[in-house]
Amino acid sequence: MSRFIALIPAAGFGARMGNQLPKQYLSLAGKPMIYHALHTLCSSASIFRVFVILAPDDHEWARYDWSSFADDKLAVRYCGGATRADSVLNGLKAMQSEASIGQDDWVLVHDAARPCLSAAQLEQLIEVLAPDEVGGLLAIPVADTLKRADADQRAVATASRAGLWQAQTPQMFRLGLLKEALSKVDSASITDDASAIEAMGLHPRLVLSDAYNFKVTYPQDLALAELILQKRETK
Ligand code: C5P
Repeated sequence: MSRFIALIPAAGFGARMGNQLPKQYLSLAGKPMIYHALHTLCSSASIFRVFVILAPDDHEWARYDWSSFADDKLAVRYCGGATRADSVLNGLKAMQSEASIGQDDWVLVHDAARPCLSAAQLEQLIEVLAPDEVGGLLAIPVADTLKRADADQRAVATASRAGLWQAQTPQMFRLGLLKEALSKVDSASITDDASAIEAMGLHPRLVLSDAYNFKVTYPQDLALAELILQKRETK
């Protein structure tokens, strides 16, 4: 039986937030942002282990109390790289050195900056993709009209949104396949894992998600994420 292992690349800085503190540690509903995705992943009975990949010089992680997560579930590795893809690839290599983890195990890569992933979305992704040949990702169809801008920030064309989806995470692929795919691409040119799989000629499945699982990117996103988390707690 293949296992399901989560990998959270958390070695980025989050320059667009304009903050001194790396994005994954910004305070959200009284906790560092990464806590919320960790909570969802570590609480899932389907997930065997959760790997967090930090920058080698990360000094923040050790400042917080993570004792609510079981030691045999949460694994922290200081092996992040220069790009997201490098951090994921280094994380996969670190996972591989564990005797209990094999090439055919499923890896669910999830951004630390998507704190509002729900347990239901996670279980749905696993259920749909576990029998799949390739794997896939949570995603939502594009709702807005898309404009192509010129250098003066003027709209020069309207792109058709037909068939376009916004990729989210988790993105779920078998460890061996994902490692091969990420080893072959220019890591600076991709922003998610599925694009490395696509570059191999494979077609990841898009599993319908919702807008709550958005990526916290700009300062105003923090207030929105907080509202979503609060609403969920009071249910
Ligand atoms: O910057 P962005 O929001 O696209 O980052 C997505 C995820 O990738 C974040 O969780 C971030 O910490 C992670 N990342 C990483 N290593 C990098 C760059 C980003 O682990 N070098």
